[in-house]
Amino acid sequence: MNALGRKRTFTENLILQVDAALKTLANSAVATRPNPAQSPNPALTAREKRLSAQCMRVNHAGEVAAQGLYQGQALSARNLAVREKMQQAAIEEVDHLAWCETRLIELNSHTSYLALFWYTGSFMIGAIAGLIGDKWSLGFVAETEHQVMAHLNSHLDCLPAIDTRSREIIEMMYEDEARHATNAITAGAASLPGPVATLMRLMAKVMTTTARWV
Ligand SMILES: [Fe+2]
Ligand SMILES: [Fe+2]
Repeated sequence: MNALGRKRTFTENLILQVDAALKTLANSAVATRPNPAQSPNPALTAREKRLSAQCMRVNHAGEVAAQGLYQGQALSARNLAVREKMQQAAIEEVDHLAWCETRLIELNSHTSYLALFWYTGSFMIGAIAGLIGDKWSLGFVAETEHQVMAHLNSHLDCLPAIDTRSREIIEMMYEDEARHATNAITAGAASLPGPVATLMRLMAKVMTTTARWV
């Protein structure tokens, strides 16, 4: 629904998509919730800073991809309730984007230079999933969120132990992603065929390996 309480037109939806894409790619995400990183900034060595920045850049790239996926699905989802759920989830993911961006700035580092590529690739996958049908679209969300949760867990293992600020962000993101996955399953997500889930894991591997460096 738009601010006038009527169903959004295709043009209004398209404008929202473009707005979301520009905000994501221009690194100008604004969080609506307080940053969970509340600990003082730890004194990291140059090596620890580099390691933390690599993890947070991968997380940020994942959030850029999540934006693309959700916006693509919101564009092509058939059911209005599903479309609005996708848009709501995308809004929540904006917090993750903003928190990762802030942490990367604190670490004197940068977001992935390939953000446009991560966004457009995921947008197309999301739009196709939405066209195939809402239960498959929701299935993509559940699978994506489960894979993101596994990544976030692995980052908690590899981050420098004293980087509590990055840890606080990742822990909050993990909680949110778990809720997104549960919501998708409750809304009727179909379980994806094994080869599709494997292909998604492969694509995620390409992104996480590349975004670590560029
Ligand atoms: Fe997220
Ligand atoms: Fe999520």
